[in-house]
Amino acid sequence: MKIGIVGLGVVGLATGVVLAEQGHKIIGVDIDQNKVKGLECKRSPIYEPGLQEMLERYFHNFTFTTDYGLLFNTDLVFITVSTPTIDGKIYLGYVFDVAKRLRDVLKRNDAIVVIKSTVVPGTARKVKEIVKNDVVSNPEFLREGSAILDTKNPDRIVIGSENKEAGDLVENLWKFTNAPVIRATWEEAEMIKYAANSFLAVKISFINEIANVCEKLKDCDVTVIAKAIGMDKRISPYFLNAGIGWGGSCFPKDTQAIVSFARDLGEELKIVEAAIKVNNERIKRVVSMLKGFIKEGNVCVLGVAFKPNTDDTRESVALKLIKTLKSEGYKVVAYDPKAITNEAKMVGLDECIRIADVVIIATEWDEFKGLEEKLRGKFVIDGRRILDPSKMEKEKFKAVGLGE
Ligand code: UGA
Repeated sequence: MKIGIVGLGVVGLATGVVLAEQGHKIIGVDIDQNKVKGLECKRSPIYEPGLQEMLERYFHNFTFTTDYGLLFNTDLVFITVSTPTIDGKIYLGYVFDVAKRLRDVLKRNDAIVVIKSTVVPGTARKVKEIVKNDVVSNPEFLREGSAILDTKNPDRIVIGSENKEAGDLVENLWKFTNAPVIRATWEEAEMIKYAANSFLAVKISFINEIANVCEKLKDCDVTVIAKAIGMDKRISPYFLNAGIGWGGSCFPKDTQAIVSFARDLGEELKIVEAAIKVNNERIKRVVSMLKGFIKEGNVCVLGVAFKPNTDDTRESVALKLIKTLKSEGYKVVAYDPKAITNEAKMVGLDECIRIADVVIIATEWDEFKGLEEKLRGKFVIDGRRILDPSKMEKEKFKAVGLGE
């Protein structure tokens, strides 16, 4: 098929390379000229495992452009633009802008418009009013850092459609993944995405609260609790890693968006609101651990990206931590294998540790595992539970969810 993808962020690019691998011709559209120019030279604008290689390998199936006009004879167009939260509410302007452009371009064409961007219920219906073409809601569940793997091996494919044939076509497109398919209405498909992200955010905040209690107990480690409860199939072991909180471009904005969307409908999402509140308190707890060690001095923050295997720092808890530490008067240096920031002086791993009075692990990069020996002599706070407490100096080590 000839497939348009509008919005070349992580979702658009991962969708693009995976469908290009399947032999489809992809026309990638973005308003960012620099991004398009880079992609035309086979340069991925973001770090995502496997993305650069896939881009190069299937480059012959790609056209990158800022010109919507090239979408005129496509069979299907994905909308993968961002849907930021502004003043606590979802901003759908980019999605509707794209819809208007598609209406003008697809005039003589019955291309199906597929919404992958995370949008509140009712959006597909509005996009349909604008474009007139068939619209399918096909929410994305990939995680940054494993975007390509997740796109190829999703747990399920959700297809929300009004027109059965349009839904069938999109279902067929993803058949190669062998994933179970949920056919739904537009509103159900849109709601599934928010329910999924909110539930995962709640799960993490839940274990983080359990971690708080563990810290007050003698000989109690939250990782043991998480392991044991995760063995219960009804709970499952995933997303039970206690830490300094959830960040990134999805959970913070999506939880806020659904809370305010529900409130506009006269419903309170009390549990999701509590999860947000718990998350907002994570940094305060790390700072108080730090104050238990030193009141001033040099802090090395290991990890700046919002999670490992990405250079994305959007809503990164590590960055928020750095800002808070600076406002508390600490001098901060940082190291990350891929991400950079202007918020702290970025140095090499060894130098970061050498300069520091206290080292805080803020992102669980593999590179930070096994650092116990190198950290000898330093105060250490493990904010992501990747160090082995038995190998650390007792008086100099604190970790999220680890009791005295
Ligand atoms: C999340 C969802 O996991 C995806 O399914 C969804 O498609 C995506 O949002 C989206 O809406 O586009 P992502 O934000 O890329 O994916 O990353 P996650 O792996 O979910 O991590 C989010 C945050 O939670 C990170 O800051 C991570 O460090 C934190 N986290 C995750 C924990 O603190 N503990 C855990 O056990 C898991």
